[in-house]
Amino acid sequence: MKDNVVIITGASKGIGAELARQLAAKGAKLVLAARSEKELEAVAGECRKAGAAVVTVKADVAEERDCQAIVAGAVIAFGRVDTLVNNAGMSMWARFEDIEDVSVLERIMRVNYMGAVYCTRHALPHLRESRGRLVGISSLAGRVGVPTRTGYAASKHAMTGFFDSLRIELEGSGVDVTMIYPGFVSTGIRENAAGPDGKPIKVSPVKEGEVMSAGDCARRIVVAMERREREVVMTARGKMGLWLKLLAPAMIDRIAKRAVEQGR
Ligand SMILES: NC(=O)c1ccc[n+]([C@@H]2O[C@H](COP(=O)([O-])OP(=O)(O)OC[C@H]3O[C@@H](n4cnc5c(N)ncnc54)[C@H](OP(=O)(O)O)[C@@H]3O)[C@@H](O)[C@H]2O)c1
Repeated sequence: MKDNVVIITGASKGIGAELARQLAAKGAKLVLAARSEKELEAVAGECRKAGAAVVTVKADVAEERDCQAIVAGAVIAFGRVDTLVNNAGMSMWARFEDIEDVSVLERIMRVNYMGAVYCTRHALPHLRESRGRLVGISSLAGRVGVPTRTGYAASKHAMTGFFDSLRIELEGSGVDVTMIYPGFVSTGIRENAAGPDGKPIKVSPVKEGEVMSAGDCARRIVVAMERREREVVMTARGKMGLWLKLLAPAMIDRIAKRAVEQGR
């Protein structure tokens, strides 16, 4: 990834920030985007200390103009885009019937799905030129149903449909599409997840100490990017689950329910 111009959305914390640090160590040129300027600058500072050239763009990926500005930031600073990592995302933790205002599902769809669509739309002409890489950070909830995650799972399934279709359209262009399907990863995403009232639930229901670390998750993503892999299903349970879903879908429903109840 040396000198590779990589855009990472949602780079102010969690998996995106970890990915930025690891790519900085490999000599990538980074364009980091998120809404929280202070946290973004802190991550950028760490990456610069590691020797990387970094620009930051304050952006809400739910707004197409902001996504256009992220890509423009890369082109102005580095003259090209080699890789776009669509990582920015938000989650929810509420049963559908308990949700007070259904607009929270629209917001999740705009951030997780349309954010990736907008960034991809504006980056694609540059990625065609560089024969670059498109990366989508989905979730196991992008492949199976998960209770308390109706809107989140829908947005991640939408990402899968979009990028799997685009991959076929891009055949022969030199642009590769890599989809990432993590299970639970220990980040702040649960604390910020929308509860029944649409506000952050603040306390993670997941046993954060028992799930994959953001560092391990980012390491696996970097390998997938380097190898231009088609997709990565992160956990053994996830890999087994996708096979089992074909044979015994009701069993997968029970496993997903238990994972949510047990928080791991
Ligand atoms: N953690 C997990 O268990 C897990 C599992 C599977 C998949 N994932 C996926 O991995 C990705 C990263 O999640 P994470 O766990 O690292 O979560 P996180 O720690 O909450 O980080 C989310 C990142 O997305 C950014 N973001 C959120 N809304 C945004 C918006 N409207 N515009 C721009 N940036 C926005 C946040 O920055 P600002 O708040 O500063 O904007 C932050 O940098 C997400 O797509 C998530 O769905 C996570």
